[in-house]
Amino acid sequence: MLRFDIITIFPDYFRLIFDYGIVRRARAGSLIEINTHDLRGWTQNRHRTVDDRPFGGGDGMILKPEPVFAAVEDLTGARQRSELKNETRVVLLSPQGCVFDQKLAAELSEAEQIVLICGRYEGVDERVAERLTTDEISIGDYVLSGGEAAAAILVDAIVRLVPGALGSETSAINESFSEGLLDYPHYTRPPDFRGSRVPDILLGGNHAEVAQWRRRAALRKTKRNRPDLLERIVLSETEKAWLDEEGIGDES
Ligand code: ADE
Repeated sequence: MLRFDIITIFPDYFRLIFDYGIVRRARAGSLIEINTHDLRGWTQNRHRTVDDRPFGGGDGMILKPEPVFAAVEDLTGARQRSELKNETRVVLLSPQGCVFDQKLAAELSEAEQIVLICGRYEGVDERVAERLTTDEISIGDYVLSGGEAAAAILVDAIVRLVPGALGSETSAINESFSEGLLDYPHYTRPPDFRGSRVPDILLGGNHAEVAQWRRRAALRKTKRNRPDLLERIVLSETEKAWLDEEGIGDES
C-alpha cells in the first residue's frame, strides 16, 4: 500500500479534498493511505515557531530546518536523505522544483511512502532540499502562496496510476500525455447540438477509421494547444503530412 504523509502548517486545508472520486475510493479500498501532519507539532518552543528571518536580509520569512527534519525523521525513521529506504520519496513542493509531469507521476506511483513537504512564506531553508529531500517539485511556472494546493495535485495524479485505482472500466493508457500527446476530443449524445455535429466517422462504427480520426484529432489539438509536446515525439510521415495540412493559425 502506498502511504502519503503531508507536512503542512495548514492541515485543515486537506480536510475534504481527498474525500471525492477516485482518491476517496482508493482510500476506502486500502490501496492508499493519506495522513496529514501539522508541522507545528515538531516545534520546541512555547510559540510553536516554524519560521525565521532570512540571513542576508530581504523580505518575508523562511521555514526553519529543525521542525521539518524532525517531522521527516519521525515519519520515515531517517535523519537525512542518505538514510532513506529506496521505496521512500521525500518531496519538497516549491516553485524552484523540476516541473511535475505524467512521467514523474508514474515514477512516484511505484513508491511505498511519499512524504510531501508544503513550503510556505518566502521559502524553506535550503538545507531541506540539500540534505533531506529526494525531489523538489513545482507544479508549473507560477507562484502559489504555499505548497498545499500543489501537494493535493500530486496526490491526485499519482493515485490514479496506482494499480486498481481507476477500476476496470477506465484506464490511463489512452489519456492525455500517455503517449506524449494530448487526448483526442470526445463526444456523446446528442449527435447534433445546436447545429454542431459529431463527426460522421465516430457515428459510423468503423474501428480503424475511428482510431485514425482520433490520432489525427489528437495531433491537431496538440499542435494548437501544446506545440512544445510535438517536438519531443517521433511522428510518422503520414502524421507529419496531416499536421502540415492543418494550417493551424490560418483559421479564425
Ligand atoms: N509553492 C509555491 N508555488 C509552487 C509551485 N508552483 N509548485 C509547487 N509548490 C509551490
